[in-house]
Amino acid sequence: MIVARRPLRGAFLFASSLAALACSRTSADANAKADSTKVAAAAAASTVHADSVWRAPFGTAPDGTPVEVFTLTNKNGVETRILSYGGIIQSLKTPDRSGNVDDVVLGFDDLAGYVKSSPYFGAIVGRYGNRIARGRFTLDGKTYTLAINNPPNSLHGGVKGFDKVVWHAEPFKSDSGVGVVLTHTSPDGDEGFPGTLNAKVSYTLDDSNQIVIHYEATTDKATPVNLTNHTYWNLAGDGKRDILGHVLAIPASAIIPVDSTLIPTGEMMKVAGTPFDFREPTPIGARIDSNHIQLKYGRGYDHTWVIDRADQTGLVRAAHLREPTTGRTLDIYTTEPGVQFYTGNFLDGSVVGKSGHVYKYRYGLALETHHFPDSPNQPKFPSVILRPGQVYKTTTVFKLGAVH
Ligand code: BGC
Repeated sequence: MIVARRPLRGAFLFASSLAALACSRTSADANAKADSTKVAAAAAASTVHADSVWRAPFGTAPDGTPVEVFTLTNKNGVETRILSYGGIIQSLKTPDRSGNVDDVVLGFDDLAGYVKSSPYFGAIVGRYGNRIARGRFTLDGKTYTLAINNPPNSLHGGVKGFDKVVWHAEPFKSDSGVGVVLTHTSPDGDEGFPGTLNAKVSYTLDDSNQIVIHYEATTDKATPVNLTNHTYWNLAGDGKRDILGHVLAIPASAIIPVDSTLIPTGEMMKVAGTPFDFREPTPIGARIDSNHIQLKYGRGYDHTWVIDRADQTGLVRAAHLREPTTGRTLDIYTTEPGVQFYTGNFLDGSVVGKSGHVYKYRYGLALETHHFPDSPNQPKFPSVILRPGQVYKTTTVFKLGAVH
């Protein structure tokens, strides 16, 4: 079941050639679990790591499609598990300043958790990350209607968005690292959106402790596209406490203010002198309960920051996050114009996640890089319309680290 495993110079090193990726699949979850355990034990016992990718079954989706998990490991021992269901980052284990490894993302131990009810833990969100007002937009003179799954608006692609489909998934190894490439065809009219959309998302883990996410899409009819990843971070590890002590910096001079239903007013709001100014690193909890109407609407932070780019195109830094007790850091770089900073204000302790941890109010934070919310209805915002013949291409990088 394991992609490859071979002893080298007395230590266990894992697959390092693409040829070795060819694997025989078994359908038995029990075998997979046993194999996974063996590999985990070998990894734990080993003091030497090499980059590897291996695949194993991860249950069956409600429509009967088998789901797989892809485990990517780099030479520093950073390990992430990606599901073909929703393209979900199910776990991400990374060392703190003393070398203690912990899982820094929220999620579930098994597929059932994700299927039952997940607030988009770790998932690829599409076709449209964030809200579209009243689930309606007009494009080229025609009005389209979407599901109102977050009354009175449409949120994150509708009832069955890209977070709930099983993607076709293939592991790969390249000069830049190990990874998995996910593809999905969303049919014309899917969740009310026009056009057949062919989406491709790749995750690559490299030896600089970066997870590089490339998003691509093409369409046969004009349609809005705004893909993102909805990981909930808790750099303290294992989602055991709230994220208010994390220190955050976002190089942005403005946010997109919203109304009480979290739909943009269409204006920009300068952050200077407000609790939204994260241009200098600031503990998230320092001002989150301030008396500011935007914080009331969001029940905390739940807004898009407009990343300062000057004339820079390409990848720029969108956020720097540091957790003081462990020293773990996360830097996010993106080609996108905005980052939605959401402080888990709708987590309420009703979700029991990995290892039985109860995810309470503000136990995880999301930093979703994307275009601005409700862009199809906001003429002043950069366009999110993809047309036939064009290729949608964006990149976001999660870089993990630890400081003393
Ligand atoms: C949104 C929140 C929403 C959450 C759902 C975030 O991207 O900004 O308003 O509640 O996703 O999990």
